[in-house]
Formats: sequence, structure tokens, C-alpha cells
Amino acid sequence: MNEPTVLSVVGARPQFVKAFPVSRLLRERAREVLVHTGQHYDFGMSDVFFEELDIPEPEYNLGVGSANHAVQTAAMLRELDAVVESEDPDLVLVYGDTNSTLAGALVAAKRDVPVGHVEAGLRSGNWSMPEEVNRVLTDRCSDLLFVPSERAVGTLAGEGITDGVTVTGDVMYDAVLRVRDRAVAEATVLDDLDLDRGEYVLATVHRQANTDDPERLAAIVEGLASSPRRIVVPLHPRTKNALERHDLLERTIAALTLTDPVGYVDFLGLLAGAERVATDSGGVQKEAFYLDTRCITLRDETEWVETVEAGWNELVGADSGEIRRALRRTDELPEKPPLYGGGHAAERVVDGVVSFLDSESIAHD
Ligand code: UD1
Ligand code: UDP
Repeated sequence: MNEPTVLSVVGARPQFVKAFPVSRLLRERAREVLVHTGQHYDFGMSDVFFEELDIPEPEYNLGVGSANHAVQTAAMLRELDAVVESEDPDLVLVYGDTNSTLAGALVAAKRDVPVGHVEAGLRSGNWSMPEEVNRVLTDRCSDLLFVPSERAVGTLAGEGITDGVTVTGDVMYDAVLRVRDRAVAEATVLDDLDLDRGEYVLATVHRQANTDDPERLAAIVEGLASSPRRIVVPLHPRTKNALERHDLLERTIAALTLTDPVGYVDFLGLLAGAERVATDSGGVQKEAFYLDTRCITLRDETEWVETVEAGWNELVGADSGEIRRALRRTDELPEKPPLYGGGHAAERVVDGVVSFLDSESIAHD
């Protein structure tokens, strides 16, 4: 009998981080075919993660590149469909909530191939967010739903999804645990930018609602600029384009320390050394919690509600006054509750995948 094949689909920066702990373990127990959709393609948004994290070279790079949502997703659907047809996988594994996630899930569902979703069951409750559409549709297409917390189990049950749900914890915690020490020892970016540990604020912004609305983006820049500390911003290409388009780049360069996107080792080093972080990223909210860094979230809602309830994350939206106030908060942070598992999520995902493949092969014998 042939070894079962898992086709894993990645394409955007956070998915390289999420796949890194899973892919390694999966390859010990099944045949993995890794597909990079090409959604992210700059060296600093893609290759650097494969190099630093020793992620296997993808068997396919579909090279879809950038376009609006429908055009980008359509290109992925067409290219992925051909790969699924030729590889005939036993399972398609997708991560998170990007267009690459949805494309992988949809192609598999249409070809009657089972789908596994890592980071299932998360909701922001904001349907205007492209990622929310991707999450809901991907979960609906999924046979195996690997969720980070009990809350996600309840969310899925509320949508009528109860079969195939496993609480694994967060694979990004596994990734942080593996790279944390190396990041603190090897990150060169603090010296490069002349930063003193504990004396600067790290900030990241790339969410569509914040970059495409000039008023929100300007309010975020002004809120950050009001900080008494230096603000360091590894700038997502989407945000750089938006600052140029909205005529905000000059002001931003004057007020903040901008740098190109950095690799994962440098980023975790920056995050661990920051006095606090301000972000609209999903992943960074959790990584801040894991690295004991206070977080201010530049959004009106979050999927990572537990970090807010724990008192380590504050939602401030894109309001410059709120950002200014939050940057000055000095109250003690509460004791950290254990959230999102103990750093063994990747093992649980792979166990779930392998048991599923075993049960399918018994059923077909
Ligand atoms: C995507 C995901 C988002 C995720 C983010 C992680 C969707 C709908 N959005 O958003 O959920 O949080 O990735 O970073 O899937 N660009 C480059 N070089 C690159 C990649 C992008 O210049 O390597 C520029 C292009 O101008 C592109 C823009 O960034 O149009 C946006 O890229 P895209 O992948 O469409 O969305 P993100 O904002 O990165
Ligand atoms: N990240 C990075 N370099 C950066 C910014 C982010 O390595 O300059 C990492 C970060 O540590 C996290 C992931 O990229 O693991 C988050 O990606 P992003 O914020 O782009 O996406 P989101 O999590 O919001 O989907």
C-alpha cells in the first residue's frame, strides 16, 4: 500500500510560521507535499522564513502573486486544482484564515478530498473582514478542525459543527518555544537599529481595514507618534504602499523608526525586547502574550479574546487618543493564565491527521 499523502497549503507569512512545527513532525509519519501559493513572494515576506526555520522546499510554488481578493483566489483555485488532480492526496491541510487557506479548502471540498484546518473555530464577528469570510467558509469545508481553545469548540458548535473538532492548542506557541532562545541570542536587529532592550515600542500594521482607510491609518500614525518612547515599525509592503498612496509616508518617516519586514528570529527578538507592542496582527497578539510583552491591539475586535480577558491585551481601535492613553498605561499586568495549550499543538495536529488517515485506509481495505 502507498504511504498516504497530505497536501499542505501555505502562502502568506503567518502560514510559514504555523506550518514550521507541523510539517517537520508530519514528514516523520506521512508523505507531505508542500504547496506555496505564492501569495507572499518578497524575500522578507517568504524565503527568509524557509531559510531560518529550515522548512522543506515546497514541492510546488504556484506563483499567484498579488491581486484583488477574487482574482487572487481564483488564480489559486485554478492552480491548486491541477496539483490536487495530479497528486491525488488523502487529505489537504490548510492553516489560518488567508485567501490561500480558503482556496485550499475549496479545491479539496470540490474534489471530495478531506480537509484539515489548523486554527479552526476562530471568529472576530466582523463579516467585513476578509479573513472572517475565509474562516467561516474554510471551517464549513473541513473534516478535521484543529482548534486552539475550548472557546473555539463552543463557537463551532454554535454553527452546527461538532464532528472532527480537536482542541490542540496553538501551533504558534510551539513555534515561539522553538525559536525564542535563539531569537534573544541571535537577533541582530536591535543593534542594527540602535535599540535598548525595554526602551522601545514595537508596532505592526497591515490589516485591510486600517491600511485602506486613510483616516484610520492617519489616526494610527498620530497615536503611535504620541509615544514618549521610540516606535519601531517593520513595515508590511501593503502598509508602505498605503502610506504612499494616502500621502502619509513623509510624516510617518519623521515620527517613527521604519524598517523593512524582518525575519522571524529578528521579529521575536524585537518583540521579546520591546517595552510593549502595538499591532493589528493576529499572530503578534499571541506571540506578545507568550513572550510576556504587553499588547495594544489596533482593532475594534479580536479573535484572540482570551488574551484580552487575561488583561495582557487591550483593544484600542484606530483612535489616536486611545492609542496615546494605552501607550502610557503603567498598571501592573495580572498573573498570566495558561492559554492555548502547552506547546504541543503540532504533535496533536499530526496525531489527528495520522489517526484520520489510518481510519480511512482501514475503511477502504
Ligand atoms: C494577507 C492575508 C492576511 C494576513 C496577511 C499576513 C488575505 C485576505 N489576507 O494580507 O489575513 O494577515 O497576509 O501578512 O489573505 N505585497 C508585496 N510583497 C509580498 C506580498 C504582498 O509587495 O510579498 C503587497 C502587494 O502590494 C499586495 C499587498 O501587499 O497587493 C497585500 O498582499 P496580500 O497577500 O493580498 O494581503 P496581505 O495584506 O498581505
Ligand atoms: N513577523 C515577522 N516579521 C515581521 C512581522 C511579523 O517574522 O516583520 C511574523 C510574526 O512573528 C508572526 C507572523 O509574522 O509569526 C505574523 O504575520 P502577520 O502579522 O503578517 O499576519 P497575521 O498573523 O495578522 O495573519
